[in-house]
Amino acid sequence: MKKHVILTGDRPTGKLHIGHFIGSLQTRVKLQNSGKYDTYIMIADQQALTDNARDPEKIRKSLTEVALDYLAVGIDPDKSTILVQSQIPALNELTMHYLNLVTVARLNRNPTVKNEIKQKNFEQSIPAGFLIYPVSQAADITAFKADTVPVGDDQAPMLEQTREIVRTFNNIYHQNILVEPQGVFPPKGQGRLPGLDGNAKMSKSLNNAIYISDDPDTMQKKIMSMYTDPNHIHVSDPGKVEGNMVFTYLDVFADDKQEVQALKEQYRAGGLGDVKIKRYLNEVMQAKFAPIRQRRAEYAKNLDAVYDILQKGSEKANEVAAQTLHEVRQAIGINYFG
Ligand code: TRP
Repeated sequence: MKKHVILTGDRPTGKLHIGHFIGSLQTRVKLQNSGKYDTYIMIADQQALTDNARDPEKIRKSLTEVALDYLAVGIDPDKSTILVQSQIPALNELTMHYLNLVTVARLNRNPTVKNEIKQKNFEQSIPAGFLIYPVSQAADITAFKADTVPVGDDQAPMLEQTREIVRTFNNIYHQNILVEPQGVFPPKGQGRLPGLDGNAKMSKSLNNAIYISDDPDTMQKKIMSMYTDPNHIHVSDPGKVEGNMVFTYLDVFADDKQEVQALKEQYRAGGLGDVKIKRYLNEVMQAKFAPIRQRRAEYAKNLDAVYDILQKGSEKANEVAAQTLHEVRQAIGINYFG
């Protein structure tokens, strides 16, 4: 039986944080280990360059960090193909063909891209490559005929765009070679881990992130600085659990739900200090990330081996993407010379 295919990935613009871990990395590892999928995980360096063309060094460095983060969380090169987007030339040609099927007006409507344009203050200077990255993402997904794309909630518009391109393509050229993908999103309410400061978004620019690569000390310091309940001044004061990041994180990371429930009740009633709950969260998170950290450190000692994994993965991916491109050229009818 033909296996389902996963294609997913991340832009390397820094190290991955625990929000990425909760939002999608965890799911990818689970799907990988289910054995039901051919899994391709892409480090989307070319997409990262669409708004970082003047700082390729940042992307080069981040590529290593993201590769280490993947391997650390349990993406297993024996089970998944890890590849580097810029090393797959077929993706670029696919993008060019798909661009003819998409209007500029449609690109301007993509809510995630719109948001990013605002955040990045591009105003009138949007790089054309940035505006069209959803089309290049459609090339990423369709090149592998992926039917399953595990990603964070913000990627839903990219999947919608990809499905539209697939339908248009198959319609115009009367072929069924491209596959409509479905997203796999985090469970409701768990899509986005808020930042340490309580901001809805965890990000590098807001300086409110815990990174997968953080050492135990850094992680502890960050946890001890977390936003709790500003009105909970004395230990004896009743405290608020809602919007209190320590409890938000405990809900996500602690396995002992009963203990969390008991702590919540005690905190609400008064008599439980912030330091105590932070220490408990620290224990929970250190335990969770210790094996991940250890695996990361092992791989970091041997970057040649990591690059070897990326090269082998990219070579395998190249064959698959080239085959799809061949079919696409045939469908369009530009295979003049056979
Ligand atoms: N857009 C994704 C991000 O912002 C990265 C990405 C590139 C991707 N190509 C993809 C995700 C294909 C899923 C499938 O990080």
